[in-house]
Amino acid sequence: MALVAPSILSADFGNLARDVDEVIVKGAPWIHVDVMDGRFVPNLTIGPPVVKAVSKAVAGRAVVDVHLMIVEPTKYLDDFAAAGAQVLTVHVEAEPHLHRAMQAIRGLGMKSGVSLNPHTPPEMIEWVLEQTDLVLIMSVNPGFGGQRFIEQVLPKIERVRRWIDQRGLATLIEVDGGVGVDNAARVVAAGADVLVAGSAVFGAADRAAAIRAIGAPTR
Ligand code: DX5
Ligand code: ZN
Repeated sequence: MALVAPSILSADFGNLARDVDEVIVKGAPWIHVDVMDGRFVPNLTIGPPVVKAVSKAVAGRAVVDVHLMIVEPTKYLDDFAAAGAQVLTVHVEAEPHLHRAMQAIRGLGMKSGVSLNPHTPPEMIEWVLEQTDLVLIMSVNPGFGGQRFIEQVLPKIERVRRWIDQRGLATLIEVDGGVGVDNAARVVAAGADVLVAGSAVFGAADRAAAIRAIGAPTR
């Protein structure tokens, strides 16, 4: 079973608490929150106040998984911790002091995450895996929901999986972008534990069925 993390980027922002509640009731164990600054990525979304509102709607029933697509992410670690983030992920391309950032995130009581853009070599995070609770492998170029899955990331997922297994680590692999019912099994077979799905969940006529189908594959 994969952990499904519906991305609220594809939810109805005017009814965010309702949409968050709905996907949790329909079986989502994680809620994925995309924070964008218009600098690291060409889009603007939300900040700590909305993460706080999402955490309140989650009410301890799911993991609040916050994906920072922002420059200088360590400026805001305290704010996201206070807002209720439980997993906090920064991009390797935006953070030169990754080892320190992972320790700082853990020091605030959150799970530490690092994300890789589709073209970024996995070797960039090879020597920080021991300090990292989650590796988020982007399978689209970050910035927008509803894009097509980039197939070239599959061998990258396999490689990171091998490193984690060889070292006996509990680090999770999360895959984000273009994941849905059609490719979930292949992504899990490559090594993913957590599947982010925005449009594939919120755009589905039957959201419960979508969450069930995306979460079904086992490795
Ligand atoms: C993209 C975001 C994703 C996005 C995924 O930059 O990080 O989390 O919401 O959306 P889908 O699942 O529609 O590709
Ligand atoms: Zn994301």
